[in-house]
Amino acid sequence: MPARRTSIHGEWSSKLAFILAATGSAVGLGNIWRFPYVAGESGGGAFVLVYLACVLTIGLPVMIAEILIGRRGRQSPINTMRTLAVEEGHSPAWQHVGLLGMAAGFIILSFYSVIAGWTLAYMVRTAAGVLQGVTAEGARSIFADLVGDPEKLLAWHTIFMVMTIIVVSRGVQSGLEQATKFLMPALFVLLVAMVGYAMNTGQFQHALRYLFMPDFGKITTDVVLNAMGQAFFSLSLGMGAIMIYGSYLSHNASIVRTAVVIVSMDTLVALLAGLAIFPLVFQYQLEPTAGAGLIFQTLPIAFGQMPGGIWVGTAFFVLLLFAAWTSAISLLEPAVTWLVENHGMNRVKATAYTGIAAWGLGILSILSLNAWSDVKVFGKGFLDLFDYLSSNVMLPIGGFLICTFAAWLMSRESTRSELGLPDGFGYRLWRFLVQFVSPVAIVLVFLNKIGLFGGS
Ligand code: PHE
Repeated sequence: MPARRTSIHGEWSSKLAFILAATGSAVGLGNIWRFPYVAGESGGGAFVLVYLACVLTIGLPVMIAEILIGRRGRQSPINTMRTLAVEEGHSPAWQHVGLLGMAAGFIILSFYSVIAGWTLAYMVRTAAGVLQGVTAEGARSIFADLVGDPEKLLAWHTIFMVMTIIVVSRGVQSGLEQATKFLMPALFVLLVAMVGYAMNTGQFQHALRYLFMPDFGKITTDVVLNAMGQAFFSLSLGMGAIMIYGSYLSHNASIVRTAVVIVSMDTLVALLAGLAIFPLVFQYQLEPTAGAGLIFQTLPIAFGQMPGGIWVGTAFFVLLLFAAWTSAISLLEPAVTWLVENHGMNRVKATAYTGIAAWGLGILSILSLNAWSDVKVFGKGFLDLFDYLSSNVMLPIGGFLICTFAAWLMSRESTRSELGLPDGFGYRLWRFLVQFVSPVAIVLVFLNKIGLFGGS
């Protein structure tokens, strides 16, 4: 049995710090911006049901696998995968899983920062009172003005990327941990309050039916692929973010228990976001299929109408910004640790290089919303393309390889001792899930998508 490693990048100060940081990574724009709009585009209840099934059968087992691999390897995902593969007697080529993840993280960060920029813009607009008394039509045009203006988008995108670079360059304890402690609980409380507000709109029942009464006829291949992609995206899985966070976790923490907490919190926040938004969508006769602008076109109406809306609205966008921030830092972290380990770069320089590169790529997403709106690759503009490619393709492939590795290439002794579990029901269930259920489900969804079973 190999000696227990320590990470050269530091360790979380406590188990709670890890839970907060990993929840901070998971809870972000994915829950509040992406979940409602993808659910709306994918038929509501049908999507939500498949999403929850994906979270349980793929998300949770893969999260456990990722944390366990990370903590055992204690390095950047690339080096962790190589070290563990060699240690278990397999090819060092497994390091490419880390490389794929780094690329996915990089692509996600590039457009994530653009959307976080929208959040910044809305924070300022709300605080300035621009939303006061706004109608549905007004909210739509405020959004259209913002996304139609590349200079503004670039300015906000730049500010957000600089914020991300600053935190990541400060390192594990001083940078990453501090950001999460108070803000996550605050976001949660505010979201619950927003659901309370939405309950009084008169359309709450409609929203409940829309989200939780699935029309099984609407479950198509695309709905399933979108739900699986959303599960990976929302839980930060398949690209090494949770793996690198796991590498800073102390040996005495229970991986399974922490994974259950993280997954539950993430799912709860997504569902709350749906319950806060859809009553308003129906109340103001907006389209659930409005796409990426959905929350930016619905919530402002509520903030514009409710008493004290300036305060509630500003607080909401501030907290959403922080949620996005704590996710963005985890997108950058795998690449930064790799540059530090393999290229002897110091953390600050490594962070600046990767952050600036992702910033540059983000410009394509910005232009796809306005000046280059006609430019289509595979029928999609850059923002949609990057989003689709990373969430629906790269993360599931990464997740497939990660669970296959943990289940089939690592010995039972290795995984069991890292999880600290006896050879009982819990361990066997997890192993069964990562051996068969999760990888097979991922492959079936892909095969179906490429039309092997007559799917579209
Ligand atoms: N999970 C984050 C969110 O929901 C996004 C993310 C994806 C972060 C992948 C890290 C890795 O906003």
